[in-house]
This record gives sequence, C-alpha cells and structure tokens, in this order.
Amino acid sequence: MKLETKVGPLTLRNPIIMASGTFGYGWEFKDFLDYETLGGVIVKTVTFKPRKGNAPPRTCETASGVLNAIGLPNGGMEQFLRVGLPYLSKLPTCRIASIAGDTPEEFAKLAGGIEANGEVDAFEVNVSCPNVKEGGHAFGSDASATRKVVEAVKAATKIPIIVKLTPNVTSIAEVAKAAESGGADIVSGINTLLGMAVDWRKGCPVLGNVTGGLSGPAIKPVALRMVWEMVKAVKTDVIGIGGIVTADDVLEFLTVGARAVQVGTANLVEPKACERIINELGEALTSRGFDSVDAVIGRLALPACDSRAAVK
Ligand SMILES: Cc1cc2nc3c(=O)[nH]c(=O)nc-3n(C[C@H](O)[C@H](O)[C@H](O)COP(=O)(O)O)c2cc1C
Repeated sequence: MKLETKVGPLTLRNPIIMASGTFGYGWEFKDFLDYETLGGVIVKTVTFKPRKGNAPPRTCETASGVLNAIGLPNGGMEQFLRVGLPYLSKLPTCRIASIAGDTPEEFAKLAGGIEANGEVDAFEVNVSCPNVKEGGHAFGSDASATRKVVEAVKAATKIPIIVKLTPNVTSIAEVAKAAESGGADIVSGINTLLGMAVDWRKGCPVLGNVTGGLSGPAIKPVALRMVWEMVKAVKTDVIGIGGIVTADDVLEFLTVGARAVQVGTANLVEPKACERIINELGEALTSRGFDSVDAVIGRLALPACDSRAAVK
C-alpha cells in the first residue's frame, strides 16, 4: 500500500500529522509514539514573546468534543530556540514549527530566528491569535491581515509555509485565497470553533476565559465543509483538520481534496491514536480495492450517494 503523499513542496511518509498544541513539543509523547511512523509533527505554537496563557480552568469536556482556552502559554522564541527547537530538529519525521506573533514583524522574526538556529521542514503560521496593533481581532478573521502576515513570513524565510486558517469567519475561501496570494505553500484548516460552556447551577462560565475553542468529533462535519470550500478556492494544496479519530475520517477529508490531515484532540484521549489510524488506513484502502492514498484524494463526485441510487 502506498501511503506516501506530496503536499505542496513536502513529501510525507503518510498523510497523518500530529496537530499543534495536542502533544506539546514532542518529548511529552516520546514514550507513547515512534515518531518514525508518522507523516509529520507540528509542535505547540511558539510566540515571539513569552506568554502566561489564560486563567484556569482552561479546558472542559463537551458532547463529542473539548473546549479549550489555553491562551498559547509558552516561553517565547528565546526559550524555543534553546529547548524546543533542538529536540524538534532531531525528530525522524516531517518537522513543522508553529509560529504566532502580535504583529506581522513578530511572525517574521520568529521564522527567521528558527531557520537560522535549527532544522525544520516547514512553518505552520497560526493566524488565530489577536492582531495587537489593529484592534485585537484574530489576524485570520481578516483576509488582508492574513495576507500581510504571510507576506512578512515569506520574506523572512525560504522554508515552506503552511497557513492554518480559523473557522471563525464568514468565508474561509476568501481567507484561503488571501493566504495563497501572500505566498502560502500550503493552507491548513480548521483551528477550533469559538464556543462557550456555562454552569447554570452556579450561574457562571466554566472556562476562566469565558469562551474557548471547540475541537474533537463534534466539529468534523463543519471542518469537512470548510476544507471542501478551501480546496475549491485555491490551487495551493490543503491539509484537513477537525475531529479526526479514525481512518474513515481521514479518507473523508482526502476525498474532498485534502492531501494530508492533522489529528489533534484524539491524541489527548489516546496517545497512540496516530499510529492506530496509520495502521487502519492501509486496511481501509485495501478493503475498497485502492492501492494508494493518492487514488482517493479529490475523488468527491456529485450528486449525493443516495440520489444516485434513486436515479438508477
Ligand atoms: C488543548 C488544545 C491546544 C491547542 N493548541 C493549539 C496551538 O497551540 N496552536 C494551534 O495552531 N492549534 C492549537 N490547537 C488546535 C488544534 O491543532 C486543531 O486545529 C483543532 O483542535 C481541531 O482538530 P481536532 O478536532 O483534531 O482537535 C489546540 C487544540 C487543543 C484541543
């Protein structure tokens, strides 16, 4: 079975990538996972300046999902260069650093600093963080702010750039196009969907930050729809993210046109989830007579399966 896939300029052993924020900087999962089996890893987002993160509680379980308002706590670029990057540089898989800043200049400084001090195969630009100079809304909720960030990162590094889009927008296609015009090599999505949990008995929000981001199986249908819209909007390759737990989930994202996927929340409940999914992938493809993941990518054909049966 040929599980290898090409996404933009990257060649992955298989289409399964560990999603940012769900396995730390790598060493936290070293006893659970053989990194050599994975398509790739994206470590926790690093910001230019250190961040404390949000007030606790920072996570809360919901029906088929998790709400989190972690707030990107991390030691900033200086600590990442000293501790996180040397570890990431040695991992035997596609190594991706996730970067975020308060301004486009901070994103650019991070990309330049990481490129100069270690070895990564790509950057994932996390545009879900607030644009501090221009009103505090997320860069990724505004097409022009997204383009400015991507242009700044592109000018600072030769390393391929994945732009990770937020679903908290009216048109993800428009933001995907802006990322592409700014020079993105790949677009990925989705990040978490804005949500809220309330304890009605006590009359207060459950999360310290009041609102948080929803992830896990609950968001998969929304993510599939958005990935399909991204695929139609841009020529750039797309990585699908959102609620993936099984090989069937992976194959649904590939069918709508994603060339690889990321697995996030599943790692929190099952640290070996990615290895299991990779094993299941070959079996699922064989059971339908496919000899490669490539054979499934972008296979979506309209109309809906049930209406075809009705026509026959
Ligand atoms: C606890 C937690 C922390 C996360 N931290 C980050 C992060 O630092 N950077 C980022 O780009 N996405 C972060 N995410 C979002 C995931 O990478 C992913 O986009 C999202 O959870 C949807 O995928 P999933 O349903 O497979 O989890 C985080 C998600 C969770 C659950």
